Amino acid sequence: MGMEKKIIVTGAQPTGGFHLGNYLGAVKNWCSLQEDFECFFFIPNLHAITCPSYSPTELRHNTIQMLAQFMACGLDPKKSHMFIQSSITGHTELAWILGCLTPVGQLFRMTQFKAKSEQKDFVGSGLLYYPILMAADILLYNAHLVPVGEDQKQHVELARDLAVKFNQTYGATFNVPEPYILKTGARVYSLQEPTKKMSKSDPNQKGTIFIFEPIDGIRKKIRSAVTDSGMGITFSKNKPGIANLMDIFAALTGLTVETVEAEYGTHSYSDFKNCVAEAVIEHLKPLQACYFELLKDKEYLNAVLEDSKKVAQAHASRMMAKVYRRVGLF
Ligand code: AMP
Ligand code: TRP
Repeated sequence: MGMEKKIIVTGAQPTGGFHLGNYLGAVKNWCSLQEDFECFFFIPNLHAITCPSYSPTELRHNTIQMLAQFMACGLDPKKSHMFIQSSITGHTELAWILGCLTPVGQLFRMTQFKAKSEQKDFVGSGLLYYPILMAADILLYNAHLVPVGEDQKQHVELARDLAVKFNQTYGATFNVPEPYILKTGARVYSLQEPTKKMSKSDPNQKGTIFIFEPIDGIRKKIRSAVTDSGMGITFSKNKPGIANLMDIFAALTGLTVETVEAEYGTHSYSDFKNCVAEAVIEHLKPLQACYFELLKDKEYLNAVLEDSKKVAQAHASRMMAKVYRRVGLF
């Protein structure tokens, strides 16, 4: 009897282009999971509409763009399932059922809810319900592991709580999923303020490298990265700008930071920046070529979605039949 592969579920919201932090901290690492796990990589477009000012046209565009980004970054439709959340029946149904088990207090205490609702004049109930929908995404496929960044860990904890509560209330049904914070995931900092995380919403766009932006712009951003006025390519907390560039360089070349220090220690800052720029560009060029080819072939992208949708829907339907029976629904 063959060993069943463990199940991985994760998603990335269709909110625009990946930057180097998303790539090195998340998606590049997902690629290495594809061999050993059954992976469900999906696009949580229902989560995206919790932002009241989103544009429907842009959302549709960004959703397809996200699929092309997944694939250009190395997620392989022959190995993994890639699909759109709203195209599967089960996510919102399961969310409703899980919501009936969730104390409202726990939702109001969620860090992301508190932060996001403070920034808004209008706070829709969807924003409060967001973590329940995320729990449903995870439990619907009976995930064992959920790769997420630190900021989403609390939401995975809720999914765990709900799995346990459902199992206690209705009988053993769900695996209790584990958050999977990848240790190899580099944390990438802004090129302009190297003590702040690289982020797509940074008002200073010179600090953020979008992986599908034109090569010349990438080169310029790296060459004008903020560093201290010292010398020597050494890894130190006191030199966050250089340390960030060293981390990026190491992550892309597969070298350790120690090796980078040994081999480039005597370079000038500007020579080292050129080396980093060329390494980033070498690495991103084939991804960019692949991305723009994929975007031209909507038929292929739709075919990938259709294939994955069948598999994902089969899993979801099987799970929902079980859940409905347990809960006493028809
Ligand atoms: P976000 O763009 O914030 O929705 O993040 C999507 C994924 O990228 C999450 O898994 C984050 O942990 C990861 N990520 C975002 N920014 C960075 C960064 N600057 N460095 C490393 N990982 C990041
Ligand atoms: N909320 C996650 C984020 O913003 C995206 C997401 C939605 C997700 N559903 C998920 C991640 C299920 C992992 C599993 O990054």
